[in-house]
Amino acid sequence: MIPRETIDRIFATAKIEDVIGDYMSLRRRGANLWGNCPFHDEKTPSFSVSPAKGIYKCFGCGKAGNVVNFVMEYEQCSYADALRQIAKKYHIEIKEKEMTEEEQQQENERESLFKVNEWANTWFQQQLWETEEGKNIGLAYLVQRGLREDIIRKFQLGYSPNKNSLFYAAKKAGYQEEFLIKTGLCGISQYNDNADDDKPARPFDRFRDRVIFPIFTVSGKAVAFAGRTLKKDHPSKYVNSPDSIIYSKQNELYGLFQAKQHIAKQQMCYLVEGQMDVISMVQAGVENVVASGGTSLTNRQVRLLHRLTENVTILYDGDPAGIHAALRGIDMMLEEGLNIKVVLLPDGEDPDSLSRKMNAVDFQKFLQDNRQDFIHFKTNLLLKDAGNDPVKRIGVIKNIVQSIAVIPDIIARQVYVKDCSNILEIKEAALLKEINKIRREKYDKSKTSATPDTEKPAAETTETPQQETTVVPTESTTRTIQPKDNLEKNILNIIQVLIKYGNFSIYDTTVGQYILEEIQNNGITFENPLYEKILQEYALHKDDEGFVSETFFKFHTNSYISSLAIELISDKYELSKIFGKQNISENVRVEEKIPTDADRLEQLVPQLIYELQLTIVKEKLIFVKYALKHAQENHKEDEMIDLLKQSMQLKELEKQLCKLLGNRIGG
Ligand code: GTP
Ligand code: MN
Repeated sequence: MIPRETIDRIFATAKIEDVIGDYMSLRRRGANLWGNCPFHDEKTPSFSVSPAKGIYKCFGCGKAGNVVNFVMEYEQCSYADALRQIAKKYHIEIKEKEMTEEEQQQENERESLFKVNEWANTWFQQQLWETEEGKNIGLAYLVQRGLREDIIRKFQLGYSPNKNSLFYAAKKAGYQEEFLIKTGLCGISQYNDNADDDKPARPFDRFRDRVIFPIFTVSGKAVAFAGRTLKKDHPSKYVNSPDSIIYSKQNELYGLFQAKQHIAKQQMCYLVEGQMDVISMVQAGVENVVASGGTSLTNRQVRLLHRLTENVTILYDGDPAGIHAALRGIDMMLEEGLNIKVVLLPDGEDPDSLSRKMNAVDFQKFLQDNRQDFIHFKTNLLLKDAGNDPVKRIGVIKNIVQSIAVIPDIIARQVYVKDCSNILEIKEAALLKEINKIRREKYDKSKTSATPDTEKPAAETTETPQQETTVVPTESTTRTIQPKDNLEKNILNIIQVLIKYGNFSIYDTTVGQYILEEIQNNGITFENPLYEKILQEYALHKDDEGFVSETFFKFHTNSYISSLAIELISDKYELSKIFGKQNISENVRVEEKIPTDADRLEQLVPQLIYELQLTIVKEKLIFVKYALKHAQENHKEDEMIDLLKQSMQLKELEKQLCKLLGNRIGG
């Protein structure tokens, strides 16, 4: 355990730009440094580091945090390991706090178990590659299943021979029997085939006569094993390590260690059932894939995935009974905020068999072409089953509404309501009402059941369903934009320019990039989730081939984004008259020169940013004035001095901004 004081010292010493700079290249622009985000694929930077605040934030994927979070995220390691790594860089010595005897023993035991596993993992691979039995039986089996050598090595597959050879080899290498049992590499049971009647039962190799699939933690330590029999019709096709103090089946995802970087880069993860499915897909060039290991996902596994991406595509074998069973587990993933897509495989195929039937290109194309949204998939599937039976159709509606209601993102829910209203032939309002009812009930329940360690405490539900109904525009077609104050007006102006001219060049960059960097450099947030989302969508897609901002937003699949975009583009929306004004004034001044869009944008965009800043400064000034009055009344001298200082700084900023704006507008 690292003592608190040391942790504080590490935070005080570490320079976030240096630590992150060790992993990627950063370029200074204004107060912040910028680079291509290491957590998703992009060609121009959305990832910013603020040395002053000690934080990083990516506008594309939304990843943000402090220096330790960065190392954890990048290395996929624990908090303590990240601290140790940073401490090493700055030569800070960590004197680990003394553990209690019990803690020490636990720690030693965990270490011993990992050591045994590490040894066994190497041993299994030696058996596969270097022994006659391993080559003739184990390796021959894997090759016959179509696996390439590089893939067998990548997943460190191994072989456990027929006899209890592991037990003896481990003893010979000095490993204690206790740990062989505790890792589950060996078992003791009354069915011990080697036990003589008059001798006590001896440990036996759990995985004997099987090919071995080591299961790794995210950081790549062998935490458990799965062994597949080579016999047809064996009663237990797979055998797994039992749970131990280092392993819980519920906590790991097969393939995550090999897939993590690919998942983060591609911002999507394929989810399959079996180990062979993962391995075959990787062989077919689809590397962002993990397996649940045949059971439905647990909360923990979902969180593990969510740290890397929001987008999960589930591959279903095309067997109807299996699909229906699998549907049940998905609401939990929706509730966690994941976007779920589905690929239905042809009847009787699993990802392993299908990827071997096709070539890699066709297989990848198949996944692309057959991806459908989960809620759509489920709705259509259930509707087909219900046929024309009205009672069954009501059941379907209730079921779908239940799934939509758990989705945390209000915009996503809106989109689904709209779509499902079409498919189910039910009015949007009716669906919304039902959804809000469910959310309200859930909210009330989480409020009344005030147990502090429930998974989702009431405090996490920031929005009550009641509030929501007022936020949600139900008839978006007739809605005109009415900003509630100056601040929103300024923000909308910026959004409008971003949408219309995001990809236009100004100075040495683009309009969108300029806005993105200014917003971040000045620590501005848009508050309204829809506006934030637009900024994020821009950052995520600005590098797409042939990206044209206006087209992108106009045809955005999220109908709330697209309808706002259309309104902002159309002439109906007249908030930003600046363009018109500028046209006139410039035409008057220099009649012969018709200014190009870019010329005007180089004036307009900074101006809009200044206006927004000015509004924010003014709001802050009002607040400071109020606080000052309060401090005065309560004779809080220190506070007053602080506030006065703030007030002076803000006024100075206000003056500067006014000057900048005056110069620009007045000329
Ligand atoms: P192959 O037959 O080798 O292609 O395996 P598979 O991956 O196609 O297996 P299947 O689709 O039958 O099962 C999916 C996953 O469930 C497997 O990868 C295992 O993780 C798990 N599983 C299957 N059978 C058993 C079993 O008998 N015992 C245990 N513990 N797990 C199993
Ligand atoms: Mn299979």
